Formats: sequence, structure tokens, C-alpha cells
Amino acid sequence: MPSVSYVCPETRQPLTVTEDGLLRSDGKLYRFLPTDVAGATRAPDFTAAVEAGEGAQASLSMYDSRVAVEVYRNFLDWLFATFRQDEAAFRASMAARLRLAPGARVLVTGAGLGDDISAILEQVGSTGEVHAQDLSPAMVAKAASTWAATGAAVHFSAGDALRLPFADGAFDAAFHFGGINLFDDVGQGLAEMARVVRVGGRVVAGDEGVAPWLRDTDYGRMVIANNRLWAYAAPIERLPPNAQDVNLTWVLGECFWVIEFTVGRGLPEIDPNVAHKGWRGGSMWTRHHGQLEAVTPQTKARVLEAAAAQGLSVHDWLEQALGRELGAKARQP
Ligand SMILES: C[S@@+](CC[C@H](N)C(=O)[O-])C[C@H]1O[C@@H](n2cnc3c(N)ncnc32)[C@H](O)[C@@H]1O
Repeated sequence: MPSVSYVCPETRQPLTVTEDGLLRSDGKLYRFLPTDVAGATRAPDFTAAVEAGEGAQASLSMYDSRVAVEVYRNFLDWLFATFRQDEAAFRASMAARLRLAPGARVLVTGAGLGDDISAILEQVGSTGEVHAQDLSPAMVAKAASTWAATGAAVHFSAGDALRLPFADGAFDAAFHFGGINLFDDVGQGLAEMARVVRVGGRVVAGDEGVAPWLRDTDYGRMVIANNRLWAYAAPIERLPPNAQDVNLTWVLGECFWVIEFTVGRGLPEIDPNVAHKGWRGGSMWTRHHGQLEAVTPQTKARVLEAAAAQGLSVHDWLEQALGRELGAKARQP
């Protein structure tokens, strides 16, 4: 039995395992995908939980068929030959970015044929747990049957990575490579990975996108002419606010961006109330939250002069002057 259980991707309610699928308390059933492979762990299909947006529909038309599975394998062979990289070594180097310890629980989103799983399993060992999901039931079915043949306990599901069927903090790490550019909401894809990873866990995501310094070279133009996906930019500004210890690098001929981050508890912890020394005074907090209306340049000059004459920062002078005025007003009947 896996230690991570599925929850409803819509409501996050727990689900009960039945013969046919996973059952929500109100009777909604997420059916298991049909499997013709003995020993395959049964993969629930959550694809009906979210209406497919334009990106999801495009991905489904590309990846959800038996032919697509073969075409995709050919693409991977072409890719690694073109970039002169050994696929297994590359996948191992990507998995190493997750900083995994033996026994870790890892989620792979957009797992495709499951080619990242071996390298991850290698790091988490026999006590670890790997879950893999993909939008395309055809990809999931193929990957699940491949893994059933190896005997490794890998848990597959079909569904949209924008609404994952897992509770907050269920995993130690989450991994994605090669599909997120086409997600309907890239920020949401990254935020969902961060949501299901515990505080302190690591998220690694990458996809096509030639490095910005190569974009306008003949090399950059050649790779973009080959495939428009290489024109995508790394979505560094779309990370969730609790992303910390962030790294952005490029791999495979600098043609794929890779973003790695640690899941923090919230925003960075700072003290915005530390007083500034100098003529303006105040603090980061007051400069942002204490803004008032503008005054005439003449009044401004007189305030600066009065503050300097009294040896006060402008902040302290204004606080005192306005305090007196407000206090006086408050005393008026
Ligand atoms: C280029 S393949 C990459 C597969 C695998 N990660 C690899 O490195 O070989 C992209 C995969 O992302 C999946 N995908 C696309 N949109 C998705 C979404 N919204 N949620 C989950 N998977 C998605 C596709 O079905 C496809 O299998």
C-alpha cells in the first residue's frame, strides 16, 4: 500500500478504493484505466475532473493515442542524438537536482512514458515511493504496463497537472520535464507541484526554451525553426511566492530551461520595521503602507527645512506634526 493516498482533485476529499475505481462520498467515481497487464497497479483516471482547456486539448491530440506513444519514443531518440547526450545519464543528472534521500516520496507530473522514473527510483531506493501522472490516458496505460513488467511499485494516474489528486505536502519532491510550456496555466502547474510538496522539499521543472543569449544567434534561430517550442522563455516570474533557493539553468545545448526551488513556508521572513537612518527616516513598512497624498513643492520644502531645523527625520517630523494636529482635532467638540 502506498503511503500517499489519492484525494479528489476537485474537493480534496479522501476517496475510497472500490473494485472499479476511487469513490467520493457523494457517489462520484474516478474509474481505473483498463489494464491488460497482469500485476499493473491500477491507475485512476481523473481526466474528467477538470474541463480540458486549449493547451490540454492540444496535448491530448498530440499524446493520447497508441501512434503518439511510438512517435514520442522516436522523438526522444532524435532529441538525445541531436544534443549528443546519453539519455540515462541526462535523466540521472536531472533527478539528482531533486536532492532526494532514500525513502523519499516523489511525484512526477506529465510523466509521459515514465522515462524519468528509473533515475528517481535509484535515488529513493526500495523504501521510497514514486507517483507519476499524465494528462494522456494512452501514455499512462503504456507507462503503467512498462513498469508492471519491472515489478517496481510505481503508482500511476491520469489527470491534469493543474489539479493534482493529492493533499498539501504529501510528497518530499516533485519533478516535471518536457510538457509544462503547453499547460493552460504554467504558474498553476508550478504552484500545484509546490502545493503537494512539504515545506523544505524540492521542485524541479524544465521544458523547451533556448537560452536568451542564444535566441538571436544563427544557432538559436535554427532550433526555433525546427520547433516553435524552443522560442518559449523560462517562466521564472510565474513561480509561487513561497519558492526559495531558486536556480534557473539551461541544459541540452542550452535549449531547455530548468527551474529548481525549495518549497518555503510563505514569503521570505524579513523585519520590515527596521528604522532607516538619515533625513527621510521611517522604515520599509511605513514607506509602503504609510503613503499619503502629495503636497505642493513649497510645502514639501518647508517640511524638509522644519525637520532639518529640529534634527528630526522627515518621517519623525511628520508623525509628530500630524499627531499634534490629529490630537487637537480629536479634542475639538
Ligand atoms: C514531451 S512529453 C514529456 C514526457 C516525459 N516527462 C519525458 O521527459 O519524456 C509531455 C507530456 O506532458 C503531458 N501533458 C501535457 N499537458 C499536461 C497536463 N496539463 N497535465 C499532465 N500532463 C500533461 C503530455 O500528455 C505528455 O505525455
